[in-house]
Parts: sequence; C-alpha cells; structure tokens
Amino acid sequence: MNEDNIQLTTRRAFIKTSGKIAAVSALAGVAIPHVHAAENNTIQIALIGCGGRGTGAAGNALTTKKGPVTLTAMVDVFENRMNTSYDTLKGKFGDLVDVPKDKRFIGFDGYKQAMDSMKKGDVAIFTTPLAFRWVHFKYAIEKGLNVFMEKPVTADGPTSRRMLELAEQAKAKNLKVGVGLMSRHARHLQELHKRVEDGEIGDVLLMRGYRMHGPVASAFSKKWPGTPSELLWQISRFHSFIWASGGCYSDFYIHHIDHLCWMKNAWPVKAQALGGRHYRNSPDGDLWVDQNFDSYAVEYTFEDGSKFYMDGRCNTGAHPMYFSHVHGSKGMAIAAKNGDYGGPSSIHKGQLPSRSSMTWQSNIPAAENDPYLNEWNDLMDAIRNDKPYNEVPFGVQASVVTSMGRMAAHTGQEITYDDMLNHPHEYAPGIDKWTMDSPPPVLSDKDGKYPVPMPGLKNDREY
Ligand SMILES: NC(=O)c1ccc[n+]([C@@H]2O[C@H](COP(=O)([O-])OP(=O)(O)OC[C@H]3O[C@@H](n4cnc5c(N)ncnc54)[C@H](O)[C@@H]3O)[C@@H](O)[C@H]2O)c1
Repeated sequence: MNEDNIQLTTRRAFIKTSGKIAAVSALAGVAIPHVHAAENNTIQIALIGCGGRGTGAAGNALTTKKGPVTLTAMVDVFENRMNTSYDTLKGKFGDLVDVPKDKRFIGFDGYKQAMDSMKKGDVAIFTTPLAFRWVHFKYAIEKGLNVFMEKPVTADGPTSRRMLELAEQAKAKNLKVGVGLMSRHARHLQELHKRVEDGEIGDVLLMRGYRMHGPVASAFSKKWPGTPSELLWQISRFHSFIWASGGCYSDFYIHHIDHLCWMKNAWPVKAQALGGRHYRNSPDGDLWVDQNFDSYAVEYTFEDGSKFYMDGRCNTGAHPMYFSHVHGSKGMAIAAKNGDYGGPSSIHKGQLPSRSSMTWQSNIPAAENDPYLNEWNDLMDAIRNDKPYNEVPFGVQASVVTSMGRMAAHTGQEITYDDMLNHPHEYAPGIDKWTMDSPPPVLSDKDGKYPVPMPGLKNDREY
C-alpha cells in the first residue's frame, strides 16, 4: 500500500476500528459490505473532455455498483460541449452530479484546476482527443489520482515511450488506471479468449479484422472555415488529423487490433500495408483537406510467422463489413460478430463459420455484458479493494501496433514494432504548453490543404 490510495483504505480502516469494532469482531470471517454514502467513502470524479464518450464514461462511472461516486469537476475547451454534457448528466443522475459553476473549467489548463480540486484516490477521466493523454496522465500521477483514459493512448513514438514511463510511475504509486479498450471487458470475448488460450482452435495461424463502412465522425474535413481558431477547429475535427487522433486508422481500428492480438496473446513484430484515398472531393464537389486515406489493408506478422490482416474503409456504397475472425490449426472462431465487440462469439470446426460447424457459442445475459460498464466496475473494484490495476502498458502496445500499421500504409514501407516505438517524429510537440492562441501543429497551405501521406515518396515520416 502506498500513499496514493491510502485515503480510501484509511477511511475503510477507520470505519472498521471506530464504533464498529465490536460488530466487526463478532462477525470475524464474514464479508461485510462496507461501502455506502454515510461512511464518507465517496469517490469523486473529474471529467476532462466533455464530448460524446466523456459524457458516456462519466455516466458509466455514476452507474457502477461498487460504492458511492459523485461527479464534481468538468473540463472542456468549448463551453457549449461542457454545457450539453452537464445538462445531460444532471438530467439523468441528479444529485450524483455536483459540479457548481466554479468547478466547470474551460481551457487547456482546466485539467490542472479540476485535478487540484480532487483528493488522492479520486478518479480523473480523460476523454479528449489522444494528443493530450500524456499531459493529463502526468499531472494525475503527481496528484495521486486514479485514472480512466480512452483509447487510443498514443499516435507516435516519443509519446508512446513517455506513456510507458508514466505507466511505471503510476504503478509505483499504486494508482489504478483503466484504458477504454472495452472489448477486453466484454464477457463473451473473455470467455472466447480463455477457450482459444486453452487450445480449442489449436495454434492461431491467421486473424482477420474488418471495419468497412461509409465516412463517419470527423474523418473527412472540408477547409477550415476561419472560425474558431485553426487549432480549436482541428481539435473539434480530431479524426481528420494524425497529431490529434492517429487519424481514422488509429481511432476506428484499434479495437479489432487490440482484441485480436489479445486472442493470440502476442503483438505483431512488423507490418506492411496498402492504402489510398480514392476521392478528394465531397459529393457536393468541395475539397477534402484532411490527412486520412479512405482505404487501408494492413498485413501484420507475428514472431512465429503467423498473420493478421486488418482492413479498414470509409467509402459510401462499398460493401460494408464489420467483424473479426480467428483461424487456428483445429478450427476457427468469430470474435466480434458485429462492430467493435458485439457478440455472440462462437467456435467452429474447420474454417467455415457456419451454424452446422459451430461447437460453442457464448450466452451471456445482456445485463452483465455492457463492456463500457464492466470496465468501470472492474476499475472501481480495484480501487476500493486495492487490487493491482494498470491497463496502460497494453493500451500503449495496442496503440503502437495500430500506429505501425498506419505508418506502413502511409509510407509504403515495412515498419517494425521497434521502428514505430523508437521513431523520433513527435506529432504535437510542446502540447503541454499550449494556450488558446497557439498555432496548430499542422498548418493549411494557400489552398486550405494539409500535408498528406505519400507512400514511396515520403518514406521516413507519415507526412
Ligand atoms: N471506447 C470507445 O468505444 C470510444 C468511443 C468513442 C470515442 N472514444 C474515444 O474517446 C475520445 C473522445 O472521443 P469523442 O467521440 O467523445 O469526441 P468528442 O469530440 O465528442 O469529445 C471530445 C471532447 O474533448 C474536448 N477537448 C478537446 N481537447 C481538450 C482539452 N485539451 N482539454 C479539455 N477538453 C478538450 C472537446 O472539446 C470535446 O468536447 C477519443 O480518444 C475517442 O477515440 C472511444
């Protein structure tokens, strides 16, 4: 036990030794439910990044069944995003949302003010675009706060190395850290993982992930309209910019990449890839100026020579596919039947995923299988019962593997895991010192266009 989770534990110890000691002795050996609001062991939550996922994650935190939780601080760089999030959460959770106006912070420094208002052992939620993760994580560690951070956690080599170091610091301070790779908290995928690990489909030889649909989120962008500032506009359209999100490849495909590698219990050692942008004009004829390709086909290779193919596409009208499969020497498995993690998962004889070849199918009651809620219950359980919990190392590894596939497509080169991790190009240098007036790390040219990948021509950097 060290000082950063000591307050919670101290409160528990205090409860056990004051007034209730007789009852505790009489009930020695009996599990005592120790967590309710009157015992003042409420965990305070700060939400940093009040958009769609942040509002969802705060809602998940307030829905956990592991003890009292209150949202007490909120941060965003846009006041309207903050207001919408506050109204939604207040409307749904009432008194569990206790964020007076002076605890609602707007601006790049807001994370400091919010975390300064917390006590050790509380939880900070990071749901801004990924570029800010290391900045916020570093401060949370200094303040002794537990963390839930969304995926991906890095897009480049320097910040990946930094996050791995920070993960060690968090571990040394016994902080609990969850990462939003929620497939790993989907009970059907956990069951499949166990079965694959136990050899039910033999040696894993090939895996396939597909996320192919029309353009979504802010993957494609028209020219900066001149307001808000170019920096804030890029932040609001973060899927368009590699510095902010790792682009659509990292933001959209990391879930399949993570859960398939988890099925094999290994990370690939290298990647080579195809990718391109078919259309640089919107259906109404305007120029798209973002940095993404609309098609990616990445071949990952594991140390044992086995392969994993990840296909991603954002094209209207093209054949949609969104699922993941695992092929072994004795059979195959459907991991995500639909979307990033959707079940049921199943195992089949041979290599055809037909009903007649099925030997097992997961059957988890829906009430137990919301992975967004499960990941919060698991984190809160670790905090309240002082269990080791740090998902950052695999969160970084999944992010590096994702980035290496993206970089292989963007450069047209074979990229190894070590190439990606040790690459010197930092995409948002000095981000910890940004103010509202800072210039963005990529600037538009006279036509409003941003630098794009040019495989075979720009070979050692993505742009
Ligand atoms: N696990 C999942 O299934 C899942 C789903 C959606 C999003 N996400 C992840 O969550 C993150 C946010 O995605 P989203 O869809 O909620 O985006 P969003 O744009 O809806 O929300 C991001 C919010 O962060 C704010 N913000 C940006 N920079 C900030 C800063 N420096 N300080 C404070 N606030 C800042 C933005 O103004 C915005 O309100 C991304 O990393 C995304 O990949 C994960």
